[in-house]
Amino acid sequence: MKRLTVPAIRARKVDGVTAEPVVMLTAYTARQAQLLDPHCDMLLVGDSLGQVIYGLPSTIPVTLDMMANHAAAVVRGSYHSVVVVDMPFGSYEASPEAAFDAAAMLLKASNAAAVKLEGGEAMAETVAFLVKRGIPVVGHVGLTPQAVNVLGGYGARGRSDAEADKIVSDAKALCDAGAFAIVVEGVVEPIAIAVTEAVSCITIGIGASARCDGQVLVTEDMLGMFERVPRFVKRYEDMAGLISRTAETYAAEVRERSFPGPEQTYQPK
Ligand code: KIV
Ligand code: NA
Repeated sequence: MKRLTVPAIRARKVDGVTAEPVVMLTAYTARQAQLLDPHCDMLLVGDSLGQVIYGLPSTIPVTLDMMANHAAAVVRGSYHSVVVVDMPFGSYEASPEAAFDAAAMLLKASNAAAVKLEGGEAMAETVAFLVKRGIPVVGHVGLTPQAVNVLGGYGARGRSDAEADKIVSDAKALCDAGAFAIVVEGVVEPIAIAVTEAVSCITIGIGASARCDGQVLVTEDMLGMFERVPRFVKRYEDMAGLISRTAETYAAEVRERSFPGPEQTYQPK
């Protein structure tokens, strides 16, 4: 199977209609990418790895090196999906030139296909700068976790008319600047639908609407690795329970000396 391309993803939306929704999940490691890749169109190396992998309190402390290393692992572990890498906080906001240097570093280090950055109208110039120079960009509007200190929390966006209008105009600005897709996170459903109808590029919903052009979730949230998840997460499995039950069984067998058993030990010929 040949790897999907950014233009192929972009071409899914024809005259405002996406017949085949875009399937996206986060991946941070090679093995995780291997398992998810056959089922996905895009894999996102999200800066959510700050919390999920590194136990950080937010995505703010995530570095370019962290993103580059995990992105390289995900590309090595996948052969089908378009791999998108999050630009970490502080690596792209200051200027289009700074953003280009950081994005180029990420793509050179990993061979990923595209970068994602947060912010709307304020980032449109930067998006255009990157796209014109050969770097496909995914935008991210609504609840943008890197702006937690400005937004004051992780609550849903778009409840007031002013906020709703801003989300739609942000999405339009990113799309006009050349973003091929936009993550629409944590917004009230009518606004997610309005954004999807307003832009010609692909909208990827998370806490948004089934009518977005695609969906993304944090894989560990979907798998039930955490006790506390946002309301918009559906936990398809209870991996936390599975892992702790497995560790409990292992620990008990070690303590009663029933592991390793005959199948796991070598005997002389
Ligand atoms: O970092 C991340 O995982 C993300 C998705 C939740 C969209 O940005
Ligand atoms: Na992110």
